[in-house]
Amino acid sequence: MKHMPQDTMLTTDITRPDPLLVAQGLTVTFATDQGPLRALDAVDLTLAPGETLAVVGESGSGKSVLSLALMGLLPGTARIEADSLTFEGRDLTAITERDFRALRGTGMSMIFQEPATALNPVRRIGDQIVEAIRLHEDIPVRKARTRAIEALAATGIPAPAERAEAFPHQLSGGMRQRALIAMALVHRPRLLIADEPTTALDVTVQAQILDLIRDLARETGTATLFITHDMGVVAEMADRVAVLYAGRLVETAPSAALFSSPEHPYTVGLLGSMPQMNARGEPMLPIQGTVPDPRVMPPGCHFHPRCPFAAGACLTDRPALRQVRPGQMSACHNAPLIETLGGAT
Ligand SMILES: Nc1ncnc2c1ncn2[C@@H]1O[C@H](COP(=O)(O)OP(=O)(O)OP(=O)(O)O)[C@@H](O)[C@H]1O
Ligand code: SF4
Ligand SMILES: [Mg+2]
Repeated sequence: MKHMPQDTMLTTDITRPDPLLVAQGLTVTFATDQGPLRALDAVDLTLAPGETLAVVGESGSGKSVLSLALMGLLPGTARIEADSLTFEGRDLTAITERDFRALRGTGMSMIFQEPATALNPVRRIGDQIVEAIRLHEDIPVRKARTRAIEALAATGIPAPAERAEAFPHQLSGGMRQRALIAMALVHRPRLLIADEPTTALDVTVQAQILDLIRDLARETGTATLFITHDMGVVAEMADRVAVLYAGRLVETAPSAALFSSPEHPYTVGLLGSMPQMNARGEPMLPIQGTVPDPRVMPPGCHFHPRCPFAAGACLTDRPALRQVRPGQMSACHNAPLIETLGGAT
């Protein structure tokens, strides 16, 4: 299915740098015992060099599948289809596994939600970073060790030379995540994918780690794809936001526009569930209902069983992602929402 996303067309403006990452019509289907499961459905994304794009959505919306697809790390049961999927102009669907391995680490790297499982428990932190460096660079161990300690120091780990000798279990969760950030950025990749990197950490440590990722990415000019279900984190981190619902993009917008004038009822619901949005300190207001089973999607707009504005075409026709105002796209028959919500946005 060929289609030309308007979002991508905008990036051909000659005043903009070439995009780092382009996905058009990215679709991921898993073979399961219960039949095919479409986890991502025709997702269009572009990421400019140095830009921070937040990908938000509830559990099961396809955020991790998206990040693993971009990193070439999906299991063999997954089938990837795309009209286009490029990183620095290279076609990721045609790249060999060997070239993808070389690209991971140097061109793009990833930090995961749970730092404990991403590190080898029986190897010293410093040795693991040295190994990561020497995987892609032919330099002596001693030189790699100096680089590893510098990388740990850059993440604010106190006494980095001593910490390099520690095993993962001897460090706190926050320190382990810093070590992983050091490892991910040691080759100065152009793209960092951070998949819920702070959800396993204490709230105060979360804020420090977010600051660290943002500062290091800015210093090194690294673009960041930041995956989260926390709109507070989006407000902190993102230049632009992509909202995923049941494997589809329902809204993309610059961060400021998304918060001031969301153009999809699902985004409005996500914003309503931000704790700080509730001035009376009432508990979070989750969106009514749950994400549908990807194998039994409702007809029309996939969000219609949960949408307070569902009527008419919503029940029969799938809304396409279309531009509502410059830079902002929504897949909603009723966008712009200003009249639907009675000016409440
Ligand atoms: N290996 C797999 N095999 C089959 N289905 C999978 C696989 N991995 C993910 N899925 C399915 O794909 C959909 C998207 O999952 P994904 O892990 O991307 O969600 P998520 O947005 O990252 O959620 P969370 O916020 O809980 O991390 C879900 O329906 C999930 O069950
Ligand atoms: S298309 Fe209709 S059901 Fe879907 S989000 Fe918009 S108003 Fe709601
Ligand atoms: Mg996930």
